[in-house]
Amino acid sequence: MKDIYILAIESSCDETACSIVKNGREVLSNVISSQISIHAKFGGVVPEVASRKHVENITEVVEMALVEAKVTKEQVDAVAVTYGPGLVGALLVGLQFAKGYAFALGVPLIGVNHIEGHIAANYIQYKDLKPPFVSLVVSGGHTFVVHVKGYTDFEIMGETRDDAAGEAFDKVARAMGLGYPGGPKIDKIAKEGNKEAIKFPQARFQEESLDFSFSGLKSSVLNHINSERQRGNELNIPDISASFQHAVVSVLVKNAMKTIDMKGLDQIAVAGGVASNSSLREALLEKGRERNVKILFPDMILCTDNAAMIGSAAYFQYKEGEKFDSSLNADPGLTLGER
Ligand code: KG4
Ligand code: ZN
Repeated sequence: MKDIYILAIESSCDETACSIVKNGREVLSNVISSQISIHAKFGGVVPEVASRKHVENITEVVEMALVEAKVTKEQVDAVAVTYGPGLVGALLVGLQFAKGYAFALGVPLIGVNHIEGHIAANYIQYKDLKPPFVSLVVSGGHTFVVHVKGYTDFEIMGETRDDAAGEAFDKVARAMGLGYPGGPKIDKIAKEGNKEAIKFPQARFQEESLDFSFSGLKSSVLNHINSERQRGNELNIPDISASFQHAVVSVLVKNAMKTIDMKGLDQIAVAGGVASNSSLREALLEKGRERNVKILFPDMILCTDNAAMIGSAAYFQYKEGEKFDSSLNADPGLTLGER
């Protein structure tokens, strides 16, 4: 069978990335130009700045991806690009570039859903992984527990009703003055804290619901911080971090395991930036051992935004014969499984 080379572009938030992926699972290059240091000064991503930086970086990032992969433009079989969800101005930069590139090369354009890309990172990490499995998608913008029925077939089992898990990490970190992005900072400092120190309330839904809610938790952490400050007490940042993180991790693990039971499956593939969280990794691995459920995590570099995951997802769409043309538009509110 002929090898398929996909040139994939990702620009949905604050990373300009390009990757060459062979046959959906082999990453020949994975170039990521991060804008984190620029946005950190503002305490979060500034959309207008992100778009401009993508414009400045994209040509060089794509050229580097081809050079590092030692692949010529003539070898590229398709150009893949994230078209949603994300920041509209940021998405449009990658999308317009990809459209022009595919047109110039005379190859198909494949529009990829960013959330599906996060899930596909697991196909790169685990070469034999095949659906069905459960995926827990936890990123800065999204929180889903999903039944992955096929490579391009998803059933959303539960999702957040308000903030995403990563967003809650970022907001709580900001309130404690830890800076942006907050997830890795809380993860690190929580190791020195006691997760039982403060009981933050968990959102409660009906028993059968697999949805999440993090805004109530976030508010109670913020209230705790404010009342400690008002009383003139010094904040115990490690304890607050550990207790907050424990509350988030518990509900993520609980809903992922419930989905395993409901669907009679035996593996959970975690995806998205929060999948790098060490406490989530430990808690899931422990439950997995107890329950004989295989727990899969991509390497950190594949968890946060990158284009290799987009190239992998695109490969399966290519195989399914999904067609996109130059009318493809950015869709900032695209949800999982939507085209
Ligand atoms: O998947 P991602 O790179 O971007 C989106 O698509 O949103 O996820 C970024 C999010 C940020 O909210 C960041 O704080 C969080 O992932 N994150 C973490 C960790 N590393 C990144 N959250 C908790 N623990 C971590 N170690
Ligand atoms: Zn992402």
